[in-house]
Amino acid sequence: MLLIKNGHLIDPASGVDAPMDLLIVQGKVLQIAKPNQIKAEDDVKVIDASGMIVAPGFVDVHVHFRDPGLTYKEDIQTGAAAAAAGGYTTVVCMANTKPPIDSVETFKEVWEREQKLPIHVLQAANVTMGMKGQELTDMDALKATGAVGFTDDGVPIADEKLMVSALQKCKELDVPISLHEEDPALMISPGVNKGKVSDALGLGGAPEEAEYVLVARDVMLNQKIGAKLDIQHISSKTTVEILRQAKAHGICVYGEVTPQHLAATEDLVLEKGALARVNPPLRTEADRMALIKGLSDGTIDMIATDHAPHSAEEKSEPIASAPSGMIGLETALGLVWTYVVKPQLASPKTVIAALTVNPANLYQIPAGKVQENASADLVIFDPNEEWTVPETFASKATNSPFIGWKLSGKVKYTICNGEIVYQSLG
Ligand code: NCD
Ligand code: ZN
Repeated sequence: MLLIKNGHLIDPASGVDAPMDLLIVQGKVLQIAKPNQIKAEDDVKVIDASGMIVAPGFVDVHVHFRDPGLTYKEDIQTGAAAAAAGGYTTVVCMANTKPPIDSVETFKEVWEREQKLPIHVLQAANVTMGMKGQELTDMDALKATGAVGFTDDGVPIADEKLMVSALQKCKELDVPISLHEEDPALMISPGVNKGKVSDALGLGGAPEEAEYVLVARDVMLNQKIGAKLDIQHISSKTTVEILRQAKAHGICVYGEVTPQHLAATEDLVLEKGALARVNPPLRTEADRMALIKGLSDGTIDMIATDHAPHSAEEKSEPIASAPSGMIGLETALGLVWTYVVKPQLASPKTVIAALTVNPANLYQIPAGKVQENASADLVIFDPNEEWTVPETFASKATNSPFIGWKLSGKVKYTICNGEIVYQSLG
């Protein structure tokens, strides 16, 4: 039994944005009531949430836990611990593992291990065999085994005809397809925006058109199909505009943005080198502001971290050869609160919806809401506490370009199925 007292509940799904106490019994939220109304037994454990926001546990539909095969970077245990430390109670793992998750056999093996973790770790499967972009996986069987979505994240799908088949199949199965959109034909070198920074570093760069051209193609291919098309890690202002227009025309499309693209620009590469190398790259201030605008006006639906752990050894390579990607689960709230909510560029409710009910609804996950008699998956955070991003994490990896940054907004407790799965010591 757990009583959360004196907190401010923000639950975008029900529209509650008010002081509320919550009583948790046997893993469920038994009662939500105005302050000091709940009568609990004397032995109840009380969390004093004065000055804090209580919200649904965050839902991240885009994480890389590297399991199976790349567990020197991360594994499902350390990934789940990083998620809990970031306020997340549900995550969806990408399928660019080793081997990739393109068969029922591989899917089942990891899925079974994921059932035993302290938070809800769900799994996506590949769109194409071996992520080679040539032949579709057995999506019927993978969905029946538990795949919550399909993706070849990390590798864009070049072939239009195959994309049409994939969209049709995902429409038939009523399951999201999430796409990494960087047209290989337009890429010079990945991970750093093509522009002043790539010029300064003597890199070819990843041009914004590589992203928006492929997004435009797939949005238009989906016009007559209507699959749940999820555009991953949107980075360019033109992509935001394409989504805005597509939605206005009634085309079915959803967008993800990462905390790093909301908080930082290509300039970070000059300071942090390979640690700031990510696909698609951090771009310009104009892009960053357009992403924030897209989030605030509903063009972008979800904040997803693209938590992409790599080893210290890999990231110490020169920027041209180091792998792209950065960890993100443990800095997500702080970055978004500091760079979006505090400057009043989007409301707490909008941001929390993008971290909870929006991704849960798209992926048909019973999460992202605070409801009586539903599973008690919650985050309690202090919106005003300042903290400095440390050098070590619950994640196995440390590849964050945000180490040393001072952020506002700190996760204090994460509760999953009524159990405290993370508690901040600070
Ligand atoms: C991701 C990874 O490391 O798996 N890297 C990245 O830069 N985002 C794959 C991807 O999404 O491209
Ligand atoms: Zn990607």
